[in-house]
Amino acid sequence: MPVRVLTPTDALAYRLLTSSAFGGSVDPDDPAASAPLSPGQTALGIDSAALPGGAEGVLAAAARIRHDEISLGGGRVRCGGIAGLAVHPAHRGDGLFAELLAAVLARCDEESLPVSMLYPSNPEIYRRHGYQVVARVETLEVPLVDLQRLRCVPGRRTVPVTAASMPRVRALYEELTAGDNAMLRRHGPLFPDGLPGHGWEAVLLVGADGLDRGYASWTRRGGDGPGLEVHEVLGRDREDLRALLRVIGSWSTVTESVRLRVRTEDPVLDVLPGGGARPAGGTVPIVMMRVVDTAALLEARQAPAGLSGALRLEVTDDTVPAGTCRAAGLFDVHVADGRVRAVPVPGSGTTSAESSAGPSAAHSPEATAGTVLLDVHAASLLLAGGRSLADARRTGLRAEADAPAEALLDALLAGPRPSVLDAF
Ligand SMILES: CC(C)(COP(=O)(O)OP(=O)(O)OC[C@H]1O[C@@H](n2cnc3c(N)ncnc32)[C@H](O)[C@@H]1OP(=O)(O)O)[C@@H](O)C(=O)NCCC(=O)NCCS
Repeated sequence: MPVRVLTPTDALAYRLLTSSAFGGSVDPDDPAASAPLSPGQTALGIDSAALPGGAEGVLAAAARIRHDEISLGGGRVRCGGIAGLAVHPAHRGDGLFAELLAAVLARCDEESLPVSMLYPSNPEIYRRHGYQVVARVETLEVPLVDLQRLRCVPGRRTVPVTAASMPRVRALYEELTAGDNAMLRRHGPLFPDGLPGHGWEAVLLVGADGLDRGYASWTRRGGDGPGLEVHEVLGRDREDLRALLRVIGSWSTVTESVRLRVRTEDPVLDVLPGGGARPAGGTVPIVMMRVVDTAALLEARQAPAGLSGALRLEVTDDTVPAGTCRAAGLFDVHVADGRVRAVPVPGSGTTSAESSAGPSAAHSPEATAGTVLLDVHAASLLLAGGRSLADARRTGLRAEADAPAEALLDALLAGPRPSVLDAF
């Protein structure tokens, strides 16, 4: 099936396809409907006309690959964010999804995006292609009576965030989430400069010495229910978080509770003073990731200080045609001096689940901790960070290892569980 890169002339056909799939209406006569898709992404599609009985000017299937970047193990890595994937109703059930997804992964590899991420409404169809659930975007409903008791934190003041001070919010976000796994680096062109808009507001927290210490951002909601949608509360320490929660608590005269979006291991959870927080209603958005280039993904992270050793890693991938991307293979992984090197073993060429022997069957080079065997599902789970091989096995994924190699890989990949917050 010919998958091709879409051009600006395909913008209208793409919008018609995705509005049919996800809702919304597109007026073909409105020039905005034909405007090029926003920069910082590649769109791929399959023409309906290329299929039996297909129509000219219609896309049978399409998806966008966002050129994102995420934090990972103290480093950062480029990430293909898959968005707006749809198959035309006339062409569903014919296998176009698998065709398109394989092309998307191949394109991510071509564009040096060693990992791919998406927010699925149906995780199962992506799981079969090697994507693994790595995070859930939790939102809590917090009663404001819990925040009213917070005392004023001395030595800190809050200032309004304006277009002029927005770069300080961006700098804080960048700095305070650099050690998290999978948090988006929110830079252009996908995250343009300026205030986010749509009612977004924030305050900056500033120390007595003038140092920016954190921020809280929210959107005021009308109607019944929680009156404030709190997007982020980020601070350098507990006192900063307390000071920012106190600001949120000041809405208690007009609303009883707020919705608070949190990271997986968000420090703010440990600062909430009351026990009244509970999961907010509604579905919990899921984040899935998939390794595209194992060696590049490993090398993007920093190694924990003091950790050193070597292991041989084999990744098998029977979810996509062989050669689609560089997830599968045999790699010599060296960890030393804060760095990771992952070198494909020459001539290994493993691209499918053909290796079914246990770890000791692979040839381990001298002076290594041994061998680790992962299927692509386990690799996708583990290389996103914050999980252990035992976690992967508990989930039913293939993760076999010699004990010292397992200990080394677990130590390398340790860290906060991945979190993704997709916008300010
Ligand atoms: C979901 C969608 C992309 C599937 O496209 P498709 O080309 O019809 O899918 P395929 O025929 O290649 O089937 C792919 C697999 O998904 C499964 N699948 C398809 N639609 C499904 C559905 N609605 N629910 C559960 N599974 C589904 C198929 O059974 C198939 O499984 P298999 O590989 O084990 O046989 C298409 O129905 C669509 O565009 N839906 C609306 C938009 C959407 O949901 N996009 C995905 C956002 S996460």
